[in-house]
Amino acid sequence: MAVTPEDVLEALRAVQDPDLHRDIVSLGFVQEIQIEEGTVRFRVELTTPACPVKEQLQAQCEEVVAALPGVNRVEVEMTAQVRARRPQQEDLIPQVKQVIAIASGKGGVGKSTVSVNLAIALAQTGARVGLMDADVYGPSIPLMMGCPEARPFTQDGKIVPIERHGIHLMSLGFLLEEGHAVLWRGPMVAGTVKQLLADVAWGELDYLLVDLPPGTGDAPMSLAQLAPITGVVIVTTPHHVAANIAGKAAQLFRRLNSPLLGVVENMAEFVCPTCKTRSRIFTGMPGEDLARSIGIPFLGSVPLDPAISHCSDEGIPSMVAHPEREQAKAFVEIAGMLAAQASVLTVSRDQRESDKVGQFVPSNG
Ligand SMILES: Nc1ncnc2c1ncn2[C@@H]1O[C@H](COP(=O)(O)OP(=O)(O)O)[C@@H](O)[C@H]1O
Ligand SMILES: [Mg+2]
Repeated sequence: MAVTPEDVLEALRAVQDPDLHRDIVSLGFVQEIQIEEGTVRFRVELTTPACPVKEQLQAQCEEVVAALPGVNRVEVEMTAQVRARRPQQEDLIPQVKQVIAIASGKGGVGKSTVSVNLAIALAQTGARVGLMDADVYGPSIPLMMGCPEARPFTQDGKIVPIERHGIHLMSLGFLLEEGHAVLWRGPMVAGTVKQLLADVAWGELDYLLVDLPPGTGDAPMSLAQLAPITGVVIVTTPHHVAANIAGKAAQLFRRLNSPLLGVVENMAEFVCPTCKTRSRIFTGMPGEDLARSIGIPFLGSVPLDPAISHCSDEGIPSMVAHPEREQAKAFVEIAGMLAAQASVLTVSRDQRESDKVGQFVPSNG
C-alpha cells in the first residue's frame, strides 16, 4: 500500500517542539505534503528563523517519515514565519510582529551592547529586524553602529530608518544636533518614544528591539501603552547592586503587565583567549540565580572581552568585528533563546484563546 499524506501527518505527530511542548502537526507547522512514488516532500514552517533546534527538528522529521513502509526518500524544507503579537487598539506599529524591550536596573551593564549584537544575530538568521534607541538620556546606538554622523531623510512625512549591518535603526541621536543636551521632563520622554514609533517608517519587521533607558521611568511605560511589548529582556551584571536593582526593574514590568522574556547576564566571565579557561570576575548574584528568583528563563551569559569593548567603542559591533569569538557565539545562542521565548509567549496566548473555542488556530496571516 502506498503511503498517504495522512500517514505522513500521523508519523510527524511524534515530533514535539521542545519549547512549545506540543507536536508540530497540531501546531500547524507541517505544510504542502507531496508524495511521488517513494519520495515524500513537505515543508515545516517554524515560528522564528532563529529557532535554536531547527536542525534537530529537521532530523527528527526525516527519521519518523523515513521509517514509514514504502518511503525511500524524504525531503524536508525548513521555513519560518514569525508569529505576530496581537495589535492593540491604538497600535502605532501594527506591521511589526514582535516588540522586544531590552531593560536594565542600572546603567553601564551593557544594555546597548546586548541590544545591538542581539539585533545583528537575529538579522543574520534572515529575520527582518529594527532597533529603536529609546534611551533618550544617553542614545548610544548611532556610535555603537558606527554611524554617528548619519542623518535620516523624510519620505511621505515619515522618517526613514538608517540601515546598518542589516538592521533598521532609529535613535534620537540621529535627530539631535551634536553635543546638544536635552533637559528631560516626563511628558517629553513619553512624546519622544511616541515619535520614535509613530513618525518612523519602520515598515514590516519581524522583530523590533527597543533599547530602553536604565530603570523604570517614563520610557518603558510609554512603550507599553503605545505598542504591546511581546516581552522584556533584563540585562544584568553579577554585582550585588546590579542584580538587586534588576530584580526591582523586573517587578515593575510585571506591574505594567509586560511579560518578561528572560535574563541576560553580561560581563560575568572572562574567557582567556589563549587557554580558554573561564574565570568569573564578580562574586555577586549570577544572572541564573536572578532569573530563578524572578521565575523567568535565563537566556545566557555574555563574557567580558576587552577586544570587543574596543571595537564597540569604535563603532563595530562584536557580531561583525569578531564573529569567531566566544562573545559572538554567546549572542547567537541568546538570540535563539530569545526568539524561542517570544514564540512561546505568542503561541501560548494563541493556544489559550483557541482552546476556549476548542481548536488550535495559529495567528499568522
Ligand atoms: N561583554 C562585554 N565585554 C567588554 N566590554 C563590554 C561588554 N559589555 C559592555 N561592554 C562595555 O561596557 C560599556 C557599557 O556598555 P553599554 O552597552 O553602553 O551599557 P548600557 O547601555 O547598559 O549603559 C561600553 O564601553 C561597552 O563597550
Ligand atoms: Mg546604553
